[in-house]
Amino acid sequence: HLQRRAEPESTAEFLDKFTIDDNDTFITSDVGGPIADQNSLSAGDRGPTLLEDFIFRQKIQHFDHERVPERAVHARGAGAHGVFTSYADWSNITAASFLGAAGKETPVFIRFSTVAGSRGSVDTARDVHGFATRFYTDEGNYDIVGNNIPIFFIQDAILFPDLIHAVKPQPDREIPQAATAHDTAWDFFSGQPSSLHTLFWAMAGNGIVRSFRHMDGFGIHTFRFVTEDGSTKLVKFHWKSMQGRASLVWEEAQAVQGKNGDYHRQDLWDAIESGMFPEWELNVQIMSEEDQLRFGFDLLDPTKIVPVELVPLTPIGKLTLNRNPINYFAETEQIMFQPGHIVRGIDFTEDPLLQGRIFSYLDTQLNRNGGPNFEQLPINQPRIPWHNNNRDGASQFFIPSNKYPYTPNTLNNGSPKQANQTVGNGFFTAPNRAASGKLVRSVSSTFSDVYSQPRLFFNSLIPAEQQFLINAMRFEASHITSTVVKQNVLTQLNRVDHDLAVRVGEALGMEAPAPDPTFYHNNKTTDVGTFGTPLKRL
Ligand code: HEM
Repeated sequence: HLQRRAEPESTAEFLDKFTIDDNDTFITSDVGGPIADQNSLSAGDRGPTLLEDFIFRQKIQHFDHERVPERAVHARGAGAHGVFTSYADWSNITAASFLGAAGKETPVFIRFSTVAGSRGSVDTARDVHGFATRFYTDEGNYDIVGNNIPIFFIQDAILFPDLIHAVKPQPDREIPQAATAHDTAWDFFSGQPSSLHTLFWAMAGNGIVRSFRHMDGFGIHTFRFVTEDGSTKLVKFHWKSMQGRASLVWEEAQAVQGKNGDYHRQDLWDAIESGMFPEWELNVQIMSEEDQLRFGFDLLDPTKIVPVELVPLTPIGKLTLNRNPINYFAETEQIMFQPGHIVRGIDFTEDPLLQGRIFSYLDTQLNRNGGPNFEQLPINQPRIPWHNNNRDGASQFFIPSNKYPYTPNTLNNGSPKQANQTVGNGFFTAPNRAASGKLVRSVSSTFSDVYSQPRLFFNSLIPAEQQFLINAMRFEASHITSTVVKQNVLTQLNRVDHDLAVRVGEALGMEAPAPDPTFYHNNKTTDVGTFGTPLKRL
């Protein structure tokens, strides 16, 4: 009842319980009756099929319902099992038990993805890439639902449907590569300049990675670490690829699409199958609560990185992917990651993008699964026992035996009991968190500078990489048909860097606006130093 075990069940042991072995067996119906042939029941040799043929109906009906809605975003992906090993006892910064001892191992499942394409789209389309990790810890499941780019397009989750509607194919023709799809995407990017920083990263090699194995991952938001005594640190998560980071060039990405649309999926599968287990190191940037506004931007703003010159990376553990799924649908498709899946010792921050995500994933998964019991699916179950008074709903597949499913109760000796009555500090929320203020509908004024960091990023690239980014922008933006959108793009690029706008403008056959010094208050000075250039890249 302490919700704690010495070790969560290992992946092999756990999956074994749910794996159906069809070797050396005979076909039955779903309810076990033997089926002797594969013909439907008809009235005479040449007669019609009979409605009473329950074998036919069951088989066809099951087939008719095989598909579930694909993910609204990140529909295209590949996943694998692995293990996370903590480098040390990190209880000085977090009570998270999976980080509580050197060498402590926790089973994980990862799903990599692209964002905009449908489930059957090609792997090497230029896109942001998802990097979602589930830790099956001995205190419950913890997910870091991140991307391979350390920032995001928008600062307020209410804009997410707009962002996605702009980057998905247009409603009338559903043609991802249509010029109109470029119009809408660039219309949004240039109208919503908070997106520039992520756009820049995507136009650099991060948009067309060499493989999933060769990309880093980022938690993006600032999170909180909370210790047993309730003290907190602010943290940003970085997964560093131990294979190194690499991208394709655009011509390669296009050629690969024609030859093998499953290129990344296959690369990951083959690497694991051949025993070349890919690895990532988990690093954190650790900051104090007092640092929230210290660096010249707001740590709650998901469009900003914290340069590693200001806050270095601390490596805290290593992840190894060592096992391919047994069944793509049951594992990779049905895993339901949520930013809301946190464990004791890790807490949210007030980042408005994160706050919106906490609602959205649970909501969409109710739709994807058709009911509230998706946490009972094998890939979603914690690897430790769970107990609560949640009941019923579509596809409840356990038989809860407690006749007193409410709290408080005396009739079942109070069970299941509240964790904080039995386990020391049973909190999820950091004890010192507070929120107050007048209700407003506006983006925080501390989020307003959206040009310094794309400039910082561009300046941190070597000339060849800058050219790569410019070529990508030239290629993509030259598909825009609307003159107004093209002009808006150049106006925004010019606010980042005049030379960049000139070089992209050449490909569009348009002149960049004059330099606009009001926006070139580059690299704000902070009380810990100046963002110098060139910076080490993340
Ligand atoms: C799915 C990352 C922002 C809504 C995903 C996935 C990733 C991801 C990696 C795929 C998970 C998987 O493999 O199953 C991110 C990151 C964000 C972000 C890093 C910003 C920092 C948002 C926002 C919303 C949102 C702001 C909505 C308000 C969704 C939805 C799904 C999804 C609905 C599908 C989930 C499912 O069907 O299981 N996101 N996302 N995301 N995201 Fe986000």
